[in-house]
Amino acid sequence: MNATANRTNSPEWNCIHTNDSATMFPTNFAWGAATSAYQIEGGWDVDDKGPSIWDTFCHEGGRLVFEGQSGDVTCNSYELWEEDLRCIRQLGLTHYRLSLSWSRLLPEGITQHVNQKGLRYYNKVINDLLASDVLPMVTLYHFDLPQALQDQGGWKSPEIAAIFDSYARFCFETFGDRVKLWITLNEPYVCAKLGHEDGIFAPGVKEPGMAAYLVGHNMLRGHARAWHSYNVLYRAKQGGSVSLAINSDWAEPLDPASPDDTAATERYLAFTLGWFAWPLFVTGDYPEVMRSSIEVRSKELGYQEGSRLPRFSKDEPSLLGTADFFALNYYTSRRVKQGECCPGVLGLKSDQDAEGVVDPSWPVCGVSWLAVVPDGLRKLLKYVKDTFNNPAVYITENGFSQVGPVDMEDVQRCGFYHDIIQEVARALREDGVDVRGYFAWSLLDNFEWADGFSVRFGLFHVDFSRPERPRTAYRSGREYAGIISKYRSQTMVNT
Ligand code: BGC
Repeated sequence: MNATANRTNSPEWNCIHTNDSATMFPTNFAWGAATSAYQIEGGWDVDDKGPSIWDTFCHEGGRLVFEGQSGDVTCNSYELWEEDLRCIRQLGLTHYRLSLSWSRLLPEGITQHVNQKGLRYYNKVINDLLASDVLPMVTLYHFDLPQALQDQGGWKSPEIAAIFDSYARFCFETFGDRVKLWITLNEPYVCAKLGHEDGIFAPGVKEPGMAAYLVGHNMLRGHARAWHSYNVLYRAKQGGSVSLAINSDWAEPLDPASPDDTAATERYLAFTLGWFAWPLFVTGDYPEVMRSSIEVRSKELGYQEGSRLPRFSKDEPSLLGTADFFALNYYTSRRVKQGECCPGVLGLKSDQDAEGVVDPSWPVCGVSWLAVVPDGLRKLLKYVKDTFNNPAVYITENGFSQVGPVDMEDVQRCGFYHDIIQEVARALREDGVDVRGYFAWSLLDNFEWADGFSVRFGLFHVDFSRPERPRTAYRSGREYAGIISKYRSQTMVNT
C-alpha cells in the first residue's frame, strides 16, 4: 500500500520519519515554494495593468472555467504581498518562485509603454524577499499572454519570439541585478496542448494536430532568443542562470515485456518531456520519434503541406545549449500502452499513439489526473540525468491537491511531502542526480486555472469568501517547514 494512503492522524505536526544519514541535502539546496501571477495576484485591471488572455478567457461567457470563476481577485497578492511574505518566512524558505505578469509591466506587451506601478510592485517583492534572505526564482511567462499580443496572433505568430525576447531583455535589465535564477517560460507543453489543441486553457484555441506544434515551436524560438540575449548582454555582469520549465509525467510500459508498450512509452515521453528538452539538451531539434510519428500520420491523413511539426531555421539563434539548468515540473506518473485512438483523426493524441493509464494501486488526490506516485519523481530524475547529460536540476513544481471540504489537518499531504522529499534525497544520494532544489506547488491556495477555486494546492489555506483573504497554514505547511528546518540544520552542522 502506498505510504500516503496509509498515514494516520498523528497529533504532533512535525512528523518526520527519516533516516538521517541517508537523507542529507547539499548546503546550498534550494528549499522553495512556487506561485504564478495570474493565479495569486488579482488586481486584474488596477494601476494601469493591461488585460491578459486569462482575463479575457474568464470574462467571456461560456468558457470552461469552474462555476465561471476568474482570477480577478484570487489571493489579492497585488495588495497583500506582505501577507505572502509572512507565509514565506514562516515556512523558512530559502527560495521563492514567482512569475511576473507581462501585461502588468507592459500593458500592451511591448517595451514602448512601461507601467511604472507594475515595476514598483515587482521591485518591492524582489527587494522584500532579498531583505528576508529568500532568493527569488522569477518566471517571465506563466500562461498569461498580454491580450494585445494575442490580438496579433499570440504564440501562433512567428513575430512573438522577438517580442518575447524584448520583454525578457527588459526584465533582465530591470531586475537582473537582484534576480539570479530565471525561467523564461513555464510549461510550454501546457500552453500548446491545453491552450491550442484542447482549448480548455486560454486562449481557448481548438485546432487539433496543428496549432500546438506551431505554438510550441514559437515558444522555443522565444526562449532561445531570450537565453542568447542573457548570455551575450547580461551574464557577465549579472552572473545568473536561465532555463525553461518543462513538465512531464514519469512513464513506464504497462506491460514491460511488450515491445508495443515499450515503444509507446518512448513516444509518450518524447511528446511531453522530449518535445521541449531534446532541442535544448540533446540535438537542437525535436526527438526523432516525434518527427517520424507526425510525418507518418500526416501521410496517412493525406496532409499535403509539409510537416505539421515546423523546422528550426539555421538563420535563427540555436536551441542547443540554451538551458543553464534543467527546470522540471513533476506531478504524476502513467503506465503506457499503445494508443487505441482513431487513426483517421488529426490530433496530438493520434500522432503520439500512446495512452497513459493510472495504475489501480496509485491513490488519486483531489483532481482525477493527479495519481500520487512519489517514486515516479526519482525515476524521472534518473531519466533526466541519463538522457540529458547529467544537468543540474531544479524541481520547479510539485504538489498535492485537495478537493471538497477544506481539511486543515491534511495528513495525507503531510505524508506526501515527507515521501517526495525522501525520493529527492534518494535521487541525490543513490542515483547521483545533481538536484539543486525543490519548489512545492504552491505557497497558497489559488486560482487553479479551469478548475477555479475548487482545487486547493496551497501550503497555506486562503479563505476566498472573505475580503481580507486570510492565509492560514495547513498542517502540511507546518510539516514542510519542519522538513526544511530539519535538513537545513543538518547541513549547517555538517559544514
Ligand atoms: C502549473 C500550475 C498549476 C499546477 C497544478 C502546473 O501545470 O504550472 O500553474 O497550478 O500545475 O495544476
